[in-house]
Amino acid sequence: MARKKIVAGNWKMNKTPSEAVALVEELKPLVANEEVDVVFCVPAIDIIPVVEACKGSNIEVGAENMYFEESGAYTGEISPAMLTDAGVKYVVLGHSERREYFAETNETVNKKVLKAFEHGLTPIMCCGETLEQREQGVTMDFIRQQVKVGFQNVTADQAKTAVIAYEPIWAIGTGKTATTEQAEEVCAGIRACIAEVYDEATAEAIRIQYGGSVNAGNAAELFAQADIDGGLVGGASLKADFGKIVNYK
Ligand code: G3H
Repeated sequence: MARKKIVAGNWKMNKTPSEAVALVEELKPLVANEEVDVVFCVPAIDIIPVVEACKGSNIEVGAENMYFEESGAYTGEISPAMLTDAGVKYVVLGHSERREYFAETNETVNKKVLKAFEHGLTPIMCCGETLEQREQGVTMDFIRQQVKVGFQNVTADQAKTAVIAYEPIWAIGTGKTATTEQAEEVCAGIRACIAEVYDEATAEAIRIQYGGSVNAGNAAELFAQADIDGGLVGGASLKADFGKIVNYK
């Protein structure tokens, strides 16, 4: 069965609760496309008003992070149960900005991935190389490690429902998109890695997004690739262009 495309906006640290609701109202009619799964991943404080504003639409809401413990003395953290109770369905885990600025590692990402599945949340697990790694020719080794450790102890049935976002760090927020060939090559490599760790059926089912300066002009070509099942969109998810990305065809 063909995989359904999934286009997710990652709002990062943008939009106050009232601005968030206004943006949802602006984008709602523009992203009304049932052929694509549409997800708005928003700051924690925006989750409740955004879930409310998205009711009755085709938009699912995601969080940008989550902690791997159930509850307790973890000041400032958000638990998986808090997310599910608020109506969240997806959670971005291991974004490169979290790895770089908040010391996330493959191991902590793995704990979060496992905990997300335990609570019925769909992880969007991010991976991607630095420019230096690409130039050294170690891109695929690095990403395979991120995927293998990130998915340790995840069952095949769980992996089938997961989303992996390939985001070359050098392409994030830089306006510098990976070429279609570069993006497809790595996404195909990730699928091959999943086939090795699990089996062909799991590799066929898992959805792999590309992220990094996706915009209304390049989405169609990127999403037409055999192994690219949609995008994780940063800057362009905060404007009307996101509607054009969702309706890329
Ligand atoms: O999660 C989204 C990515 O970091 C891409 O961000 O589209 O602004 O380059 P960008």
